Amino acid sequence: MNDFHSLTPSDLTPAQWHPFLVGAVAPRPVAFASTIDAEGRVNLSPFSFFNAFSSNPPILVFSPANRVRDNTQKHTLENVREVPEVVINICDYALVEQMSLASTEYGKGVNEFAKAGLTELASELVRPPRVAEAPAAFECVVEQIIELGQNNGAGNLIICRVVRAHFRQDILLPDATGIDPFKLDAVARLGGDWYCRASGASLFEVPKPNRHIGIGIDQLPEHLRNSEVLTGNELGRLANIERDALPTPAQVEDFKAEPMVAYLLNKYRDDTPELKQQLLQLGRQFLAEGRLVEAWKAFLCD
Ligand SMILES: Cc1cc2nc3c(=O)[nH]c(=O)nc-3n(C[C@H](O)[C@H](O)[C@H](O)COP(=O)(O)O)c2cc1C
Repeated sequence: MNDFHSLTPSDLTPAQWHPFLVGAVAPRPVAFASTIDAEGRVNLSPFSFFNAFSSNPPILVFSPANRVRDNTQKHTLENVREVPEVVINICDYALVEQMSLASTEYGKGVNEFAKAGLTELASELVRPPRVAEAPAAFECVVEQIIELGQNNGAGNLIICRVVRAHFRQDILLPDATGIDPFKLDAVARLGGDWYCRASGASLFEVPKPNRHIGIGIDQLPEHLRNSEVLTGNELGRLANIERDALPTPAQVEDFKAEPMVAYLLNKYRDDTPELKQQLLQLGRQFLAEGRLVEAWKAFLCD
C-alpha cells in the first residue's frame, strides 16, 4: 500500500494549505473574465477556480477569492456587484502569456485589455466586451454571488448564466456540432506556476460507459482480475463491455484459427506460461488499439 501525507486544512494557514489544494485539484480550466464597474470602466482577469456546472440552464461558476495578503476583494467581484454581467473568455495556448499578464494586480479602473495587448470586441447582449483573440467566449448575466467566508482566501462564487456564446469557426468540428479538442488547444492551470496544454499526443479518448452497462471489474474472470500484468486502466476498459458483446465460445474458436493466433498456439502449445504470456501481450495490444472484443478473444483463448 502507498503511504499518504494526510492534512486537516484547519491545522494549516491558508498559505500552507493552498499549494496542496491547487496542486492536487488540477488541471483547472481558466475563466478569463471581462467585467465593467458602475462607471463603465473595463476589467479583465483570469480565474482558475472555474467550471461549467449546468447545461440547462447553462451555468458557469468562477470564484475570485478575498486577497490572502490583506483580505480585500478583487475588482472583478466589486464590478459584478455593480454591474451583474460578465464575459467568460476561454484561454488557448496562443493567449497564455497575455492572460497571465492580465492577472497583475493593477489598480482599480486599469483596463487589462490594454495592459495585456488584447482587443475589445463589443458583446451582443451584455455590456462588458469580450476578448477578440479568445477561441470561445460566453456572454453571461450574474445570477447569484455566494460568499464562502469572510477571511483571507475565502472564495466568492459568481454564478453566471450564459445568454450568448461565440466559438471561432476554426475550432469547430467539420459538421459544426461541437468543438474539435485538437483545434481548441486549451490550456489549464495546475499548482505553482505550472500549466498544461491539451493538444496533440496528450489528448486521448475513453469510450463513455453511460450508453451501455459494462459488466464491471468484479465480473472479470479471476485470472484477468488478479493479473499482475494488467493495469487498472486495462481492467477498466475490459470491464466496460456489455455482457451481450462478450465473444461467444464459437467466436473464440474462430479467433484461434486466425493465422497469427494459430501460429502462437502451435508454437507454444497448450497451457504453457509462454503461451499465456503471448496471448496476454496480444490482448493488451488489441486493448491499446481500442479493439475491445478482439482483446477479449485473446484473453479467453487459453
Ligand atoms: C491562471 C490564473 C488563474 C487564477 N485564478 C484565480 C482564482 O481562481 N481566484 C482568484 O481569486 N484569483 C485567481 N488568480 C489571480 C487573479 O487573476 C488576480 O488576483 C487578478 O489580479 C485579479 O484581478 P482583479 O482584482 O482585477 O479582479 C489567477 C491568476 C492566474 C494567472
